[in-house]
Amino acid sequence: MSDAVALAAPVAEPAPSGLIPAKGVGLVRAWLLLVAVMVYAMILVGGATRLTDSGLSITEWKPLLGALPPMSDAGWADAFAKYKAMTAQAQLNAGMNLSEFQGIYWWEWSHRELGRAIGVVFAVPFLFFLLTKRTTRALTPHLIALFCLGGLQGLIGWWMVSSGVNTDLTSVAPYRLMTHFCLALFIIAYCFWLWLSLGGKDRAPSKQAYGWASALIWIAGLQMALGALVAGLDAGRGYIDWPLMNGEVVPHTFLSLDPWWRNFLENEATTQFMHRITAYTLLIVAGLAALRLRKIEGDFIVAASLVLLQASLGVMTLINAAPLNLSLLHQALGTVVLLSIVRLVWKTVPAKG
Ligand code: HEM
Repeated sequence: MSDAVALAAPVAEPAPSGLIPAKGVGLVRAWLLLVAVMVYAMILVGGATRLTDSGLSITEWKPLLGALPPMSDAGWADAFAKYKAMTAQAQLNAGMNLSEFQGIYWWEWSHRELGRAIGVVFAVPFLFFLLTKRTTRALTPHLIALFCLGGLQGLIGWWMVSSGVNTDLTSVAPYRLMTHFCLALFIIAYCFWLWLSLGGKDRAPSKQAYGWASALIWIAGLQMALGALVAGLDAGRGYIDWPLMNGEVVPHTFLSLDPWWRNFLENEATTQFMHRITAYTLLIVAGLAALRLRKIEGDFIVAASLVLLQASLGVMTLINAAPLNLSLLHQALGTVVLLSIVRLVWKTVPAKG
């Protein structure tokens, strides 16, 4: 059977039964989009917080009371003293003065504050939609799940920060950073999926295309997680040549840590090598999918082009030793790549039954 026969033509299919509210769906969609955009901003501010080494400047976890920054000289002196006493990172920054400390504090504070703002922007309209019957029995559990995931993300954020408070680590534990980053991606993807589902148009169910889209989402998910490890280990500043790594195809330190599995979480060479190999794999699979499905599903070409752009940007980031602007752009585009693939999965998922 030819591909053209195997794939259904795009259809304006209704969303899964019962998901779409009878009234106000436009408003609910606009709200989901706003939340997704805010989560996107949160991912970027989080990236800037990490790249400026600002993440350990607030050594306490006060979800409500911490909304206000220090208001007096004494308050600032106290926050600075806690940073110096409670983090090993401060010893690396021994010459730091108060105004430099305030510089890193504002990044971390903005990241946390944006998190609080997302909580409010989510919860208040949600209650309104509940009370005015603008949500449905099928949609409400998804929205509650999203809210709970947001709360969990706050907790994981603190779990991450706590790995660098009163410990010997000079920055947060990379695998905790990876967990925090991956949950952020899951939240934005979930929000986007609901937004698409409430629109309910332009689906093109097809087993074959869905198979390709599913493969892509798994590889892209792995690639994003590996990227977070590379970032968390600052590995993008250790090996800065391409296509080789310090002149070698496979770095000789690939399995230098014991036991072997620790290399895949803690070794700069291994994580960066895996990030490169997975990028090439993603590029090949996305290219093949685009070639195979190009006549019927042009969005695979869009996704493959985005992956190519992202891989090129990754190389640029690397050979420039991960400066703030390129690293942030790489993170920002990576999230767009992932969402473009989420859309492919949503679009092609075969109808139930
Ligand atoms: C093709 C798909 C790719 C995707 C989806 C991707 C995604 C990501 C993500 C999500 C991060 C983590 C950003 C963060 O947490 O701040 C990252 C970091 C990084 N990636 Fe990629 N990447 C790709 C390809 C590449 C390639 C081909 C290279 C270089 C050969 C590369 C080099 C880097 C470097 C150096 C970092 C660390 C930057 C930093 O310290 O902030 N990436 N990548």
